[in-house]
Amino acid sequence: MVLGILGSGSGSNMQAILDAIAAGTLDARIALVLSDNPDAYILERAAKNGIPSGVIDCRGFKTKFPEEAQAETAARLKDAGVELVCLAGFMRLVKRPLLDAFPERILNIHPSLLPAFPGIAAWKQAVDAGVSETGCTVHHVDDGMDTGPVILQEKIPVLPDDTDKTLHARIQLVEHRLYPEAIRRLAQTALR
Ligand code: GRF
Repeated sequence: MVLGILGSGSGSNMQAILDAIAAGTLDARIALVLSDNPDAYILERAAKNGIPSGVIDCRGFKTKFPEEAQAETAARLKDAGVELVCLAGFMRLVKRPLLDAFPERILNIHPSLLPAFPGIAAWKQAVDAGVSETGCTVHHVDDGMDTGPVILQEKIPVLPDDTDKTLHARIQLVEHRLYPEAIRRLAQTALR
């Protein structure tokens, strides 16, 4: 299965996908990595792994993903032969025309037990809310914010002395196992 990755930050989830491929537990290939942030470490990771990568020109908008940029992104992914798009820490909302170009073929990983705590810094939302349990979720992307159908979820306890940082680190450990697993499941059920 040919994957395209969109990310804005460190790209540790992309690394986990690469590690699963290298370990032979995920039958896939990452064909293209795109980032809206030219300084994102995910682009360095792509280069280190010899994966083609590029920057998405969001026309100076800070948070918006303009329609022209979405159309360009869809075209670049299609040109690279991408079958499944994985958002990995991508900080802009995907809408048409990108959604239309990859119907039910865009996944996201979110650091909470959705529908709880959608949006940014979900680990901080969990600490601030004083809940005893949170988690992470891999889901299909629709035109809402972290609202699409869930593929896999896992619960993670919030410990009494957890800070935003310690909780996020523990959530990420689970994310790195859950994302490759969700891609594997999707490949087995929907794509083949
Ligand atoms: C992850 O916690 C993910 O759940 C959230 O953004 C973070 C991205 O981390 N959507 P990384 O760039 O994969 O390291």
